[in-house]
Amino acid sequence: MTSFELVCVVAMAQNRVIGDGSGLVWHLPDDLKRVKALTMGCPLIMGRKTWESIGRALPGRASIVMTRDKSWQAKGAIAVTSLDSAIKAGKDWLTEQDGSERRLILFGGGQIYADGLSRCNKIEMTLIDVTPDQGVLFPKTSPMDWDDRCLETHVKTGDVPTFRYQRMTRKVPIFV
Ligand SMILES: NC(=O)c1ccc[n+]([C@@H]2O[C@H](COP(=O)([O-])OP(=O)(O)OC[C@H]3O[C@@H](n4cnc5c(N)ncnc54)[C@H](OP(=O)(O)O)[C@@H]3O)[C@@H](O)[C@H]2O)c1
Repeated sequence: MTSFELVCVVAMAQNRVIGDGSGLVWHLPDDLKRVKALTMGCPLIMGRKTWESIGRALPGRASIVMTRDKSWQAKGAIAVTSLDSAIKAGKDWLTEQDGSERRLILFGGGQIYADGLSRCNKIEMTLIDVTPDQGVLFPKTSPMDWDDRCLETHVKTGDVPTFRYQRMTRKVPIFV
């Protein structure tokens, strides 16, 4: 039986900022479409604060929400209290589908990336040419561990800054 893979999906500024704590600090419609395409049919593992910032379950995907509050619940969310439980819930959800999809998505935010990045096999990153003064940060990654490939660059148009899509793949593959 094929293993499951944890894939991190993130949009990050040049200085590693991913948001201001309650939402994103940019609006990139093209990136939102890409995130939808990348994650459709997958379980999304996210922190309770990211769930609150989205405000609803995203269609066609499971929303697995990490919280330390054992009594927390919300319509459309699968609540879990640890990363191990999140991964187990994601695998269970995938197994209940047609079984062809093997990816679980590490969806953020900062605390969940910090907790789960060491278990990811891939990072689908959008790197945006902005440097917000402050915000929630994405953890540092070492070129020793990751191969980094630029897939596509979009140059600045109007209010939309330059951004590029990068795929980072673990040099030594890991599965969950
Ligand atoms: N740019 C991007 O790609 C991207 C993606 C996602 C999110 N974001 C941004 O990231 C920001 C939110 O990030 P954040 O770091 O503040 O919050 P977060 O990671 O979304 O959520 C933090 C919450 O998750 C729960 N949690 C964390 N670690 C846990 C653990 N080990 N076990 C169980 N529960 C755990 C806790 O919930 P309780 O307090 O309920 O216990 C904690 O308060 C927002 O600005 C959002 O827009 C950006």
